[in-house]
Amino acid sequence: MTANDLAGELSGRHIVLGLTGGAAAFKAAEFCRLLTRAGAAVQVVMTEAGCQFMTPVTMQALSGRPVYTSQWDARADNSMAHINLSREADAIIVAPASADFIAQLAQGRASELLPLLCLARPAERVPLLLAPAMNREMWAHPATQRNVEQVREDGATVLGVAHGEQACGESGEGRMLEATELLQELVAFFTPKALLGQRVLITAGPTFEAIDPVRGITNHSSGKMGFAIAQAAQEAGADVTLVAGPVHLPTPRGVNRVDVVSALDMHEVAAQLAQNAHIFIATAAVADWRPASASGHKIKKDGSGTAPQLAFVENPDILSDIAHSARAQSGELYCVGFAAESEDLIANAQAKRARKNVPLLVGNLGPATFGRDDNTLVLVDDEGVVELPRASKRRLAQQLVGEIARRVSGSTA
Ligand code: CTP
Repeated sequence: MTANDLAGELSGRHIVLGLTGGAAAFKAAEFCRLLTRAGAAVQVVMTEAGCQFMTPVTMQALSGRPVYTSQWDARADNSMAHINLSREADAIIVAPASADFIAQLAQGRASELLPLLCLARPAERVPLLLAPAMNREMWAHPATQRNVEQVREDGATVLGVAHGEQACGESGEGRMLEATELLQELVAFFTPKALLGQRVLITAGPTFEAIDPVRGITNHSSGKMGFAIAQAAQEAGADVTLVAGPVHLPTPRGVNRVDVVSALDMHEVAAQLAQNAHIFIATAAVADWRPASASGHKIKKDGSGTAPQLAFVENPDILSDIAHSARAQSGELYCVGFAAESEDLIANAQAKRARKNVPLLVGNLGPATFGRDDNTLVLVDDEGVVELPRASKRRLAQQLVGEIARRVSGSTA
């Protein structure tokens, strides 16, 4: 998922973006831009050390608001910048959060405006997120780990750090997350946790059925819908595993991914994982048939002008198998199927729902959706038919996750 996919998702949110001293401050400039593009109003607050790495002028230009750097800023009529700023925020995110800054928070110190407003915030209403950034030795130091534990206990959300090359030339844990990752974390943070505690299994993409070592049969499924659902379910608090056929898509943040190639592989992996899942969503465009036997070597033209005769056998129906399992029948596993049709969408979807034994079947017109970024969905269940009008696959995925969560919580309530 790119930052563009998240356009508008923070609209109406007021975010205080804090910058402390660290070479990763350059990423905060990009993050600030992404926040405003996502629709957030951004108020930047910088520490004295932060101003050594990035100028307030740059951050003002990117956020469209004058930056606060001092508790003694004369702009605050009541000279209480720390109170005003922390009362109007929906969240405070400090990126980069240096080792020293985290240490100050752990001790409840308020030596300048940023730690002061973190301390003064109404914690139950204004969440504090920290994106640590520091040298690997500083990150691994017991004092830092102790402080991180302490600020977590005190209610802050400490985002992860990345592993890799550092500004100091060393390599290890402690790099700040990238701007897009920070944006995803924040969007996920604000998402209601409608699937908290649910283990969700999703199949996505096409399968590839080998004819010989260099050829095979596949289809145009891009996997985008399944990946978008995986992301939306993860943001809604689920523990998500995505079983993906051959696609060129990045793994959604926080999602476990198992790559497979053929329908048989996908069947084996999904059937295994389904034994432990609460929800199974089959979005994969599984090949219905595979060559009866794949040749171990490249099939050559024999010069006679006749094409080789290929025989096919049917692949297992992954969704139908899992939806007929004891766990699905007893209601422990809620199954959702997709139907890619070329015509008579609703009638075909209803028939498919009955045949595959799934409580919820999501229909879409195959040729109109493959590879596209938007789609239209029709939800068919025993309540009837609901249409989700044309929208981005991201938006549809979020709506679908909401619909599934409502049905799952309804069935267990
Ligand atoms: N599916 C599956 N395993 C298969 C075939 C389909 O798990 N071998 C799942 C798909 O992931 C989807 C649903 O079944 O959730 C319907 O897929 P679709 O291709 O629309 O239907 P088919 O079963 O192939 O039926 P038909 O070809 O008759 O339309």
